[in-house]
Amino acid sequence: MMEKKSKGIKKIAVVGAGTMGSGIAQLCAQAGFETVLFDVLKEAVMKGSKLIRYNLSIGVEKQKISEEEKEKILSRIKISHDFNDLKADVIIEAIIENLELKSELFTKLAAINKDDSIFCTNTSSIPITKIAENISHPQRVVGMHFFNPAHLMKLVEIVSGKFTSKENAQTIYKLAIKLGKEPVMVNDAPGFIVNRIGKLFHTEPLKILEEKIASVETIDSLLIASGFKMGPFRLIDLIGVDANLNVTKSLYELFNFNSKFKPSNLQQQMVDDGLLGKKTGKGFYQY
Ligand SMILES: NC(=O)c1ccc[n+]([C@@H]2O[C@H](COP(=O)([O-])OP(=O)(O)OC[C@H]3O[C@@H](n4cnc5c(N)ncnc54)[C@H](O)[C@@H]3O)[C@@H](O)[C@H]2O)c1
Repeated sequence: MMEKKSKGIKKIAVVGAGTMGSGIAQLCAQAGFETVLFDVLKEAVMKGSKLIRYNLSIGVEKQKISEEEKEKILSRIKISHDFNDLKADVIIEAIIENLELKSELFTKLAAINKDDSIFCTNTSSIPITKIAENISHPQRVVGMHFFNPAHLMKLVEIVSGKFTSKENAQTIYKLAIKLGKEPVMVNDAPGFIVNRIGKLFHTEPLKILEEKIASVETIDSLLIASGFKMGPFRLIDLIGVDANLNVTKSLYELFNFNSKFKPSNLQQQMVDDGLLGKKTGKGFYQY
């Protein structure tokens, strides 16, 4: 298989127009790439596209870009509900955190794309090797783990699984730099680096809350006072209470049900009640 060089990247497709996908598509268009933003739900693509427009308007207000540049960036993004639009040089997957769904998606993408197209996954916790193992040309599967909000946070973990070729990891590393990011190369493991360490920043505060030791506000303000930029509950609301729970469940399983990653019953209850955080207007806080 020919490896794709970063110079050969013209078109990028982003699959999943939720919290992460819309920010990632914005970055790609800002960097000058022809971009497709796709979702299975029509309302999700509409919401994603609105969010990009809103983020860019803030950029205009802050005089970081001109109105003309904003329109140019928007003109590079094709909002799509048609799977056939996902033929691209690089595809960045940002669908829900579920191994079966991600594998199924990449199998379908492999059927319509060239062998040298690169498949990136924004998974937070699932090993890249597991996602790649049943995909044709698995050397093209690379972890490209952005942080929330994707259009602002600098860090991107570039994750190489057992099959990932060095060339493809390098190409995606260079792409991340073109997107204005500060990437780091990481070897494959559940949760990679940041989420493996950071998960305890969520699971322990949830235990403290469930044990009625302190309130949401107290725990958040205490951690801010001790030097963190944001408290854990405000952060879970920003990530999405459901998205955050999915990552905990995934790590719990991948670390052989180690109790330090045990999902919280309270968080499950909130997801069942539709309290998903900022994106639904209510989570640990009201928005
Ligand atoms: N939220 C975060 O802070 C964050 C940070 C880093 C990485 N991630 C990871 O990014 C991925 C997406 O997370 P999110 O928070 O953006 O989720 P989200 O729930 O906000 O959005 C997911 C979107 O994917 C769509 N979708 C689901 N199945 C699909 C399919 N088969 N094809 C196309 N679209 C599909 C859904 O309709 C939804 O719009 C997950 O793997 C998550 O772990 C999330």
